Amino acid sequence: MNGPAAEAIRLTDVRFRYRGVQLRALNGVSLTVGQGEFLGIVGPSGAGKSTLALVMSGQIPAFVEGPFDGEALLFGRTTRGMRSADLAETAGMVYQDPEAQLYGLTVEEELVLGLENRCLPPDEIRRRVEWVLAVTGLHEVLEKSPYALSGGQKQRVVIAGVLALRPRILVLDEPTSALDPRGKTALYELLGNLSAEGVTVVIVEHDIERLVRHADRVCWLEAGRIAALGTPEEVFGRPAESGTGLLRMPQVAQLTHRLGLPAPWPITVDQAEAVLRPMLEATPR
Ligand SMILES: Nc1ncnc2c1ncn2[C@@H]1O[C@H](COP(=O)(O)OP(=O)(O)OP(=O)(O)O)[C@@H](O)[C@H]1O
Ligand SMILES: [Mg+2]
Repeated sequence: MNGPAAEAIRLTDVRFRYRGVQLRALNGVSLTVGQGEFLGIVGPSGAGKSTLALVMSGQIPAFVEGPFDGEALLFGRTTRGMRSADLAETAGMVYQDPEAQLYGLTVEEELVLGLENRCLPPDEIRRRVEWVLAVTGLHEVLEKSPYALSGGQKQRVVIAGVLALRPRILVLDEPTSALDPRGKTALYELLGNLSAEGVTVVIVEHDIERLVRHADRVCWLEAGRIAALGTPEEVFGRPAESGTGLLRMPQVAQLTHRLGLPAPWPITVDQAEAVLRPMLEATPR
């Protein structure tokens, strides 16, 4: 791509409180995400990760009640009052619980429903269904009920249904919690390909080890605010300002820190090997 990438998401001082709750779930969040960028959101339970994901996909303020201040722009357009058809084309959301997002009696129906609701012509619907089946590998379960599938397969059906709408921004809230390691690898490969094609990918993820190998940048949330934002190396490769920091570090960073090695710490096994091997080899046995 030539020149700077377009801006996909711009949040300016976003504050949000769920209706009837005193504490703000988001308390002044500002950041921009470029088109095609792969952004990871991390942080302790209750930090506001899911809420931020809902803001980035426009679900807040459109479909969740509560006072919303600040501005959320998706490709330059405010999400306030955005029509749901426009929103569906702009940003897709995969929720933490796949069951909550399944409607169809069969997997095929699940994939087709959203497209029919958008009044797409039948041949376009067929093309898109073929495409999502190819990228998610769900051909063999097409006739099955989504409810009869394993957790990992359900998750893939939900992702396929969202992808079929071809959103320019894809937001996923802990989509790998129900997946086995092979399923996780396949999902990250798919997300990497989508991001390379220009889809902006935002993922809430607890598996830091996996995230740091794929994300362009990481946003670390604590108590509704951004505690750190930068490349995985910038966020995890040096001491965190906040106290809970080390809990969320990649294990190789924790290890090198404990061994008393100076930052920047390695954040992947490959980087750790590059740091530790020369030291071990220099040590007389
Ligand atoms: N639907 C809701 N109604 C009221 N309060 C909510 C709702 N959803 C979240 N909250 C509150 O908002 C705050 C942020 O929650 P959020 O779900 O965004 O955190 P999270 O970082 O995703 O946590 P987790 O890691 O447990 O998923 C928490 O204090 C939570 O209790
Ligand atoms: Mg959450």
